[in-house]
Amino acid sequence: MKILITGGAGFIGSAVVRLAVARGHHVVNLDALTYAANLANVASVDNSPLYRFEQADIRDRQALTRIFSDHAPDAVMHLAAESHVDRSIDGPGDFIETNITGTFNLLEAARAHWQAQGRPDSFRLHHISTDEVFGSLGPTGQFTETTPYDPRSPYSASKAASDHLVRAWHETYGLPVVLTNCSNNYGPFHFPEKLIPVVILNALHGRPIPVYGQGENVRDWLYVEDHAAALLLALEKGVPGRSYAIGGENERRNIDLVRTICALLDEMRPDGAPHDRLITFVTDRPGHDARYAIDPSRIREELGWSPSVTVEEGLRRTVRWYLDNEDWWRPLLDRQGVGQRLGTKA
Ligand SMILES: NC(=O)c1ccc[n+]([C@@H]2O[C@H](COP(=O)([O-])OP(=O)(O)OC[C@H]3O[C@@H](n4cnc5c(N)ncnc54)[C@H](O)[C@@H]3O)[C@@H](O)[C@H]2O)c1
Repeated sequence: MKILITGGAGFIGSAVVRLAVARGHHVVNLDALTYAANLANVASVDNSPLYRFEQADIRDRQALTRIFSDHAPDAVMHLAAESHVDRSIDGPGDFIETNITGTFNLLEAARAHWQAQGRPDSFRLHHISTDEVFGSLGPTGQFTETTPYDPRSPYSASKAASDHLVRAWHETYGLPVVLTNCSNNYGPFHFPEKLIPVVILNALHGRPIPVYGQGENVRDWLYVEDHAAALLLALEKGVPGRSYAIGGENERRNIDLVRTICALLDEMRPDGAPHDRLITFVTDRPGHDARYAIDPSRIREELGWSPSVTVEEGLRRTVRWYLDNEDWWRPLLDRQGVGQRLGTKA
């Protein structure tokens, strides 16, 4: 397949790019290269004859039309987005423009391309979304594909809006779409403003490890390479118009996750032990969702997917990767907002 992947210089998009090229697909990586992007994430495929890069912004409809015309993709995997909840609290405008208007532009450019090709049934537009669109769970229950939407942050509201647009383009115009809603990802190449890299890097530097509230919030963690495999499977085998919830069935309270990472660092970098002495409780995020959990029965039973690593193994690999890849993360610490407390302007 020739796959147009948006957001392929980001955390999850780059994992999808690397896996798709490894599996022999032609890949066109379309990315605006915002603060969250890093072309080093795709350096391993940069010289592959299967790989092309297009710097473009999904808010620019003309650029999208040109790229569809130049590359004539068989499929689109749409990951480009503003993705950080704390930044969405301080400045929601970019989230509305990229996640909603940008998705609208992509749908229109894809629809024009698909119609010009004679509306092939084999075409796919795969929209990658989050479990955050479903809101916040109490102590029990899990999200499924039929859970009503109830987004509570500017980020999740903008992603929910984009999901609705994608479904509408399927129902109204017949565009063959697939949707996935995934839980929290972690792993190599994770930008150092998100919880797990913040914990690792602050611990390495002997700096306070900020934990929001009392660290009671629960997330369902999935190793990014397992997510990438699930996404390619949903692209290839997913039923048009259908959505698939993806999760690792690895629920952890934030405080327990942080303590696990500290214990791994105690083992791998004993000179700074005990790292959990650096844990510092800070004012909670406004509107902080209490708990997310995914029931992945549909993708497991219909498409045969299951994660390949446990959270313990995935965290071990992740900590090792950050210890071994200082050249990757060091320059990112200078980017705007990194290392600062964001998301307090509510
Ligand atoms: N990180 C998670 O845990 C998680 C979980 C579920 C779903 N998702 C979804 O997966 C997708 C990827 O998430 P991520 O964590 O890799 O995000 P990320 O922030 O690491 O990467 C986003 C990429 O999109 C690009 N981008 C942003 N605005 C753009 C624009 N206007 N035009 C073109 N490119 C643009 C950025 O340059 C960056 O490379 C997002 O849609 C996100 O909502 C993320």
